[in-house]
Amino acid sequence: MLLAHAGQMEKLRFGVIGFGGMAEALAQRLQQFDDATVVAAADTNPDRKVAADALHATFYTDYEQMLRQEELDAVVIGTPCGLHLEPTLAAAQAGLHIFLEKPMEISVERCDRMNRAAQEAGVKLMVGQVLRLFPLFQKSLDILASGEIGKPRAIAATRFGYAPIFHSGWRVKKELAGGMLLETNVHELDYMRAVMGEPKQVYARTLNLLGKMEYEDVAYLVIEFQNGGIGDLEASLSAAVGEYRVHIICEGGAIAHGGFGGTLRWARFGEEPQVVTVEEAQQQYPDPYTRELRSFVDWVLHDQPPLFTGWDGRQAVAMCEAAYLSHERGVPVAVP
Ligand SMILES: NC(=O)c1ccc[n+]([C@@H]2O[C@H](COP(=O)([O-])OP(=O)(O)OC[C@H]3O[C@@H](n4cnc5c(N)ncnc54)[C@H](O)[C@@H]3O)[C@@H](O)[C@H]2O)c1
Repeated sequence: MLLAHAGQMEKLRFGVIGFGGMAEALAQRLQQFDDATVVAAADTNPDRKVAADALHATFYTDYEQMLRQEELDAVVIGTPCGLHLEPTLAAAQAGLHIFLEKPMEISVERCDRMNRAAQEAGVKLMVGQVLRLFPLFQKSLDILASGEIGKPRAIAATRFGYAPIFHSGWRVKKELAGGMLLETNVHELDYMRAVMGEPKQVYARTLNLLGKMEYEDVAYLVIEFQNGGIGDLEASLSAAVGEYRVHIICEGGAIAHGGFGGTLRWARFGEEPQVVTVEEAQQQYPDPYTRELRSFVDWVLHDQPPLFTGWDGRQAVAMCEAAYLSHERGVPVAVP
């Protein structure tokens, strides 16, 4: 419906559902675009009106009222993960394109309903699997795409830290946050999939060490990919000493990087590693959140191929779901 008159459209009009910290950061970026604007925001917490006022967006405490009253083309959904389904179905029914924060939802069944609703309504749905776009991650994907070190065969990602933000509010609850793998490591799992291709099965062991959340705070996963490659994820929100690192082993060389900081080193067998600092990579790859939103707007307005879609969001959730089932059953589980 929208694309039919996209040629005359001056700006893509966004409404935001769940106007918390992340959605506000996204809305601030959208307000900088020439071809997009945030006209309204809805949050059940009335205190969020102040933030909406700062962006000159009309504030609602009921998103359904916003969908009825505002003339919108698209929504950004930034509610807690377990509250992504209902607003997505409502937005699709209203014929609006949908940008969803990660993780897509707390189960594959719910993700499939959302993708189906978007498809049936003929609207575009993107899940912001933004980690791939962070400078050192993007650099690694570009090195792989250049073919200089051959095909990736194994990937290991470690994300250890201590995160008291998870000890209160909605992040404590399994039905809202899904779990540590969903709320946090869905990022690393999506990146591992961007490197290795579609996953086949997962073996996982998890612990709830501190008991602060209704779910795991330590998880170790071994992933088998459809191309025969292997992946290893080690994650914790209860590690008093933190560390972030990624290692990708390829047929002709390897890449190692520090994730959000430090350096990326890469080499072919027998050669000295080339080193890229995060500062250098930032010059090449600007703000990842702006890039994902730019891709969404260009997809909606100009049908340009998106950086990622609802399928990517669904597959990352599917890897988490397989991991949780594997932990329960004590055996590897096929990715649904
Ligand atoms: N991509 C990233 O780097 C990144 C970073 C942080 C958070 N996130 C994701 O963003 C989402 C939100 O996280 P956050 O940190 O912004 O949390 P937040 O608590 O700051 O925001 C969530 C907001 O949703 C509102 N809300 C809850 N139920 C609602 C409802 N039914 N209708 C309307 N509003 C409702 C809350 O009042 C709150 O303002 C999560 O899915 C999280 O995983 C992504």
